[in-house]
Amino acid sequence: MAAIDARDVPADPVSEERLSASGLEYRVVDMSDPGQRRGFARADARGFLDKEPDDETIRLMGEMMSERRNLGVYAPGADMPVATVDSWVTPMTVPGASGASIDLWAISAVTVAATHRRRGIARNLLEGELRAAASAGVPVAGLTATEATIYGRYGFGPAVPVSKLRVEARRAGGISLPAADDVTVEYIEPEDLIAALDEVHERARLDRVGDVPGWPLRWRRMAGLVPGDDRARHVRGVRAVDADGVTRGVLAYTLDERNDEFAADLAIRHLDAETPEALRALWAFAVNHDLVRDVHADLRPVDDPLPWLVANQRAVQNTVHDHGWLRILDVPAALAARTYRAPLELVLRVSDPLGLADGSWRLRIGSDGRAIVEVTTDAPDLVLGVDALSSLYLGGVSATTLRAAGRISASAEVAAAVQDAFACAVAPALTIWY
Ligand SMILES: CC(C)(COP(=O)(O)OP(=O)(O)OC[C@H]1O[C@@H](n2cnc3c(N)ncnc32)[C@H](O)[C@@H]1OP(=O)(O)O)[C@@H](O)C(=O)NCCC(=O)NCCS
Repeated sequence: MAAIDARDVPADPVSEERLSASGLEYRVVDMSDPGQRRGFARADARGFLDKEPDDETIRLMGEMMSERRNLGVYAPGADMPVATVDSWVTPMTVPGASGASIDLWAISAVTVAATHRRRGIARNLLEGELRAAASAGVPVAGLTATEATIYGRYGFGPAVPVSKLRVEARRAGGISLPAADDVTVEYIEPEDLIAALDEVHERARLDRVGDVPGWPLRWRRMAGLVPGDDRARHVRGVRAVDADGVTRGVLAYTLDERNDEFAADLAIRHLDAETPEALRALWAFAVNHDLVRDVHADLRPVDDPLPWLVANQRAVQNTVHDHGWLRILDVPAALAARTYRAPLELVLRVSDPLGLADGSWRLRIGSDGRAIVEVTTDAPDLVLGVDALSSLYLGGVSATTLRAAGRISASAEVAAAVQDAFACAVAPALTIWY
């Protein structure tokens, strides 16, 4: 559990004043008040183009939102906000021993009503979140984005790319499992699926750099148990159980019949596994499934073993896309929170459009992989914006790539040394949307 509770952090006074100058009220929403809860949930659904939430959905959203810091922007006298945002402090796994983490200010529910867009409300929401997080001492903020063009201007950088996979199951030629794998796959009922998703994710994320905990409504949604889910009755779940009877992997999926064919496509809602054996068994379940043509999965690690499990790699289409976005707020705290794979010494100069993470630091990484970060006035070896540093932070984006793109300024040797030190043996991954 993170030590800081975002709900204790008041609304940012700068954004409050700026929005008030436009005749709008920016305030923390009281989720215990049924009217405020309903208004926030409806505005959130409307912003994300969802249908109107029913009473049960509002109740479930209220339960989730009451664990978070929710801010609304209100026109005078209105119950329903014209803009929403919520945030919570959560551990994000970083490179290091199993379970090593940094406190992340997670931001979600960013919406501005279609009637109020392009007049600076989102800017005030985002800048307000970042100032609030920095004032609370949280070293990094994060989010997942509907569009890749929205958040760079606030200092966020795409840091955890993931793979969207499509497998032509027949062409793939099937998956044969090693004889030594002693894993059983079994169907589970929807309520048990919720528990298994939570249980496996909570263990697996401790060794998955870039991942964060889920929450009850998230798993309920994956299991198809939220009212109004048109796909609910299509959801099925299986788990992978090891020789000791422990659930090591879980798969929630839907089957969609193909037109004019007695066959279906299998869409993975969530796949999680804490052992390679369990992962192999679940991929084999999906790809070897009779009557299935295509298998679709998103939010998979970019180094998912799937292409190496099937007989024909060309049956796997792998589309890598941005997913986890990070925004460093405290450079020394962030860099010291993780370990590195090679020694390094350099001076980095970071620029920040909001002035929160501006500065020059000497980064010294010892042979133990630990970093010491000190303020310096020495000439820099690496000059970059806070967005680029945030992209590099977990090792999911290569320094040599950013140099080639002109996004960081450093010699080829420095970029290569940064890459060697920051890289992870296993690709970072974020297996949920938030
Ligand atoms: C994205 C959204 C929150 C932007 O709200 P907004 O109040 O119109 O944004 P602002 O007026 O504060 O714009 C701030 C800046 O972002 C830019 N911007 C806003 N929306 C953008 C978009 N969809 N794509 C790219 N840039 C965008 C503006 O041009 C402006 O740029 P500038 O300050 O550099 O000139 C709003 O369009 C929305 O609610 N969209 C639907 C829900 C959604 O996608 N939310 C994001 C969830 S991750």
